[in-house]
Amino acid sequence: MKFMTIAVSKGGVGKSLVTANVGAALAKKGKKVILVEGDPNRPLQTILGVEVTSESLKLDEVVRRDLNIEAALFSTNVENLFLIPSGVSLQGYFEINPVKFAKKLSSLKSDFVFVDVPFPLGEAAFLSLGVCEYFIVILTEDEFVLCVESAIDTIRLGKYLLKCVPVGFIFNRIKSPDKITGEFVKDLEDLLEIPCIARIVEDPKVSKSYGGADSAKAFLAYEELRGSEFAKSIDDVAAWLLGKLPIPEKKDFVSLIQELIVPQRS
Ligand SMILES: Nc1ncnc2c1ncn2[C@@H]1O[C@H](COP(=O)(O)OP(=O)(O)OP(=O)(O)O)[C@@H](O)[C@H]1O
Ligand SMILES: [Mg+2]
Repeated sequence: MKFMTIAVSKGGVGKSLVTANVGAALAKKGKKVILVEGDPNRPLQTILGVEVTSESLKLDEVVRRDLNIEAALFSTNVENLFLIPSGVSLQGYFEINPVKFAKKLSSLKSDFVFVDVPFPLGEAAFLSLGVCEYFIVILTEDEFVLCVESAIDTIRLGKYLLKCVPVGFIFNRIKSPDKITGEFVKDLEDLLEIPCIARIVEDPKVSKSYGGADSAKAFLAYEELRGSEFAKSIDDVAAWLLGKLPIPEKKDFVSLIQELIVPQRS
């Protein structure tokens, strides 16, 4: 089982969109994938079209009442792909109990668990990087310098404090592919000390799939835009994640959360 998050302290780069679509691609390849919605705006729920009602069991209640986390798993239209609605933002678990949150997640059984992080990151990043073994950062052409700064900050926080291994970066929303040359990407790889997993172009149809202009109803771009460059890039990310990943740095994330967070709070 692999715990992953797509994190970078910069909003709107495509974290939720890539999480949902890569999750679907892995599920299509036969892996059991669980996506944990950490954003109260519920982007994953929207993209996946999952009907979560106010009565539905959510992760915050599971943690509060010490219930079985499996009861909060929602099926999606994609076989093997499940969603856990959160109820509160990730930082909300600091008010409930971050250690109990970590314990609940650790009892999940799946090939991949992805935790989607809201913006601004703050405590949410702390918790998601704390519970995950691996993370991917995303950069975009827009606000590129800010993206690089954010990537460096997030890599430092993840790698050195929270023992979350940065496995690579995705260059998303590329508008001028001729500018993002191999040499340019190589320089970035050297700077960030992680490989580029994929370069994903800006596609207006993808933008419409969720959040873009005239996107009345969200949809899973990976499924509906089969054959597109976007879907191929998403398949590349999934294939890359199925390859050999580095050995995780932490064996027991519950203890790490306990050591790092509980002393601060007491
Ligand atoms: N490759 C792409 N082509 C076109 N639009 C894209 C692409 N990737 C992301 N987008 C669009 O960018 C916007 C932001 O995406 P998303 O919400 O996934 O980002 P985020 O990093 O999760 O944001 P936040 O920080 O608010 O959580 C959405 O409208 C999405 O449709
Ligand atoms: Mg998001």
